[in-house]
Amino acid sequence: MTNESQMANTFEKCSVEVLLSGEAIQRRISDIAAEISKDFKDKDALIIAVLKGSFVFCADLIRKLNLNIAVDFISLSSYSGTSPDGRVNVIAGLKETPEGRDVIIVEDIVDTGHTLDFLLKELSLKKPKSISTCVLLDKKCARVKQVPVEYVCFEVGSEFVVGYGLDYNGFYRGLPYIGILKDND
Ligand code: IMP
Repeated sequence: MTNESQMANTFEKCSVEVLLSGEAIQRRISDIAAEISKDFKDKDALIIAVLKGSFVFCADLIRKLNLNIAVDFISLSSYSGTSPDGRVNVIAGLKETPEGRDVIIVEDIVDTGHTLDFLLKELSLKKPKSISTCVLLDKKCARVKQVPVEYVCFEVGSEFVVGYGLDYNGFYRGLPYIGILKDND
């Protein structure tokens, strides 16, 4: 199937029900950014955003932080379609050095916790001064690995969500809101 026909197929078969509006997301990010700015005042903070899903969230978050921060990206893969398989791979690594720094992981969603668990272990090997995690969405009910999450914007249910950076097979990332993906069949 070509990319075009896959896209047409996806959009015909699915609809998106709004769960969190763009305004609600921005308000909550402002609150979380204020908290982080207070907690990391006078620290050598390094934000590590997990690609691809967190790029929209990270871009809005860092513009609301009242901090002098460095930003880096790591690309991990753990999902194919809508079902987690528990395996995590590093696709592209860091350019910055976490050693001795106060790292803040920025993630779009924590679901089973496999991805975050893997990343926390990988980063610990690089001897940062501290590691904190900031997530846009927490699917607590789906957790398999218990992982610490210091900053949570929203807790969500078990439904598959898209938009505001989150995708389904590469689509829907550009929606300005977060919605539940519904199969029309
Ligand atoms: P975990 O390893 O199961 O915690 O999954 C984390 C990753 O799975 C996230 O970074 C997302 O890329 C993806 N993911 C989990 N749930 C959803 C969802 O509802 N929509 C889109 N992506 C999801």
